[in-house]
Amino acid sequence: MNNLGRLLGYLKPYRARVALAVLLMALVTLSTLPMPRITQYVLDVVLPGKLYRMLVVVFWLILGLYLFRGIVSFGLNYLLGWLGQRIVFDLRFQSYRHLNRLSLSYYDKRQTGKIMARVIDDINVIQYMITGGFVTLITDILTLFVVVPVVFYMEWRLAWIAVVIVPTYVVIYKLFLKRIRSLSVQLREKWDALIGALQEKIAGITVVKAFNREDYEVERFMTTVKDNFTLGMTQAKLNRILGLFVTIISAGGTGLIYWYGAGLVLDRALQPGELIAFVGYIGYLYGPALRLVDFNIQAQWAGAAIDRVFETLDTRPEIMDAPDAVPLTEMRGAVEFRDVSFGYDPEKPVLHHVDFAVEPGEMIAIVGPSGAGKTTLVNLIARFYDVTEGAVLIDGLDVRQIRLEAIRRQIGYVSQESLLFSVTLRENIAYGHHDATDDEIVMAARNADLHDYIMSLPDGYATKIGEDGVKLSVGQKQRLAIARATLTNPRILILDDATSALDSETEANVQAALEEVMKGRTNFVIAHRLSTIMHADRIIVMDGGRIVDIGRHDDLVQRPGVYKNLYDEQFRSAQDKALASILG
Ligand SMILES: Nc1ncnc2c1ncn2[C@@H]1O[C@H](COP(=O)(O)OP(=O)(O)O)[C@@H](O)[C@H]1O
Ligand SMILES: [Mg+2]
Repeated sequence: MNNLGRLLGYLKPYRARVALAVLLMALVTLSTLPMPRITQYVLDVVLPGKLYRMLVVVFWLILGLYLFRGIVSFGLNYLLGWLGQRIVFDLRFQSYRHLNRLSLSYYDKRQTGKIMARVIDDINVIQYMITGGFVTLITDILTLFVVVPVVFYMEWRLAWIAVVIVPTYVVIYKLFLKRIRSLSVQLREKWDALIGALQEKIAGITVVKAFNREDYEVERFMTTVKDNFTLGMTQAKLNRILGLFVTIISAGGTGLIYWYGAGLVLDRALQPGELIAFVGYIGYLYGPALRLVDFNIQAQWAGAAIDRVFETLDTRPEIMDAPDAVPLTEMRGAVEFRDVSFGYDPEKPVLHHVDFAVEPGEMIAIVGPSGAGKTTLVNLIARFYDVTEGAVLIDGLDVRQIRLEAIRRQIGYVSQESLLFSVTLRENIAYGHHDATDDEIVMAARNADLHDYIMSLPDGYATKIGEDGVKLSVGQKQRLAIARATLTNPRILILDDATSALDSETEANVQAALEEVMKGRTNFVIAHRLSTIMHADRIIVMDGGRIVDIGRHDDLVQRPGVYKNLYDEQFRSAQDKALASILG
């Protein structure tokens, strides 16, 4: 209910239109009122008096009335359509903007499809509620306010019969309410699960196919669909039963009115036409009563959607600028981890007491088995997550004291799997720096050893990639990501396994290019192939979320430990390969 009020708040900027809509609704309602009276007039006056001329007047009256109603309805629907679309627009815009502000931890905890369901489905439900539900609600309330006095004025004895029936609706409805509400919530959740699963399985179609799991996935999907079907049917059944009750009550009420009314007609206390008109007006009352029940069902459904949309909007980003955050426009690139511990779930630490300091311009390599926490460590530098204990400092400032925008602008980041958007190559490279000049873009592409390939394409930098454009190989994607990260001329460059997807030859090329782009920056390079990091200023060796050793390559290979093991392993396999190629 609270959230409903909040939703109505979205109509506030459009009050004038809302007021006009309500006025038009009132006109539509009023335009239906004369009909029973006209019927009465025809039955009680025109027919007995054989006033056939009046039938022409009646004809034009009815035609005029419906014409008027049609025109007003048209305007009303247009206005409502506009309001509904406008609110959807506002809500979608706000939701998406807010989703962009939310921290990565929000996304870690949720399926992409479920997040999408909120922005798309829930907001659609809300739109339907505004343009459909609310409007009938208002017209119905208006109708009740006008028609109730009319029927009492016409014949109060009959009116009582009609009015006494209304509370029975309420009682019946109350009996059903709890079931309807819980069904709505369940249906919403199942729907969510459906979209979530669909998105995940489509994104992972390669895995599904590689493991021959198509049939299994179809079956699993069908189970979810079936759940939806069953719940939907239960809901439909419930609605129909409720509808049946309401119809029976209405029919009973109408029957009673005819029964008692016929007596009044026989006693000449009432004209036959009056009785017909009266029943006509009562029909106007039952319609809204019926629809109010329907509206309530709809409202339960929409209520769940409204709650979820506002829940998203109310989620506070975990990572936000401190009120006194400094802009730090000129980063030098010194990085320090001061006894940092961190866990995605604070209960389950992933990094333990990580402590080291890096001078501006240093090249730091990070090695260790997968799952050691290398990615996690570099994620803390760009403040994708906040430490659980200790502090990460850039230029001696706690990253929590620096404006996020400044951090992200001055850190170049190439992640483990590069993500490109379905736009042109140029736009992809210039993603973080959209006002870059052509020269800058070409330079970045050259550095990443991608320029020649791009120039070989007919459209060059204007080539679209993705669905309806060229498809890049993993290595090309990775090089594009490197171009993108270095274009912004960042003070700190983070390469998370940026070259591991490349074949040795390309890697050697990219490596040479990287050495160029790394100059004058602080670099964090995570790599599996030790050949790429042997010349690092310092190598941080990680295992199980701890730093187990720090040093230069020459020192580290001397000591027994994780690094030496890695080295021996790779050295040996390289030797084996060389041997194999010699022996053919
Ligand atoms: N987003 C996440 N949410 C929860 N746990 C995570 C997340 N990312 C990584 N982890 C966990 O943190 C640990 C370290 O992961 P990661 O830093 O990716 O290791 P590495 O990059 O060295 O392979 C792993 O146990 C992994 O399961
Ligand atoms: Mg990693």
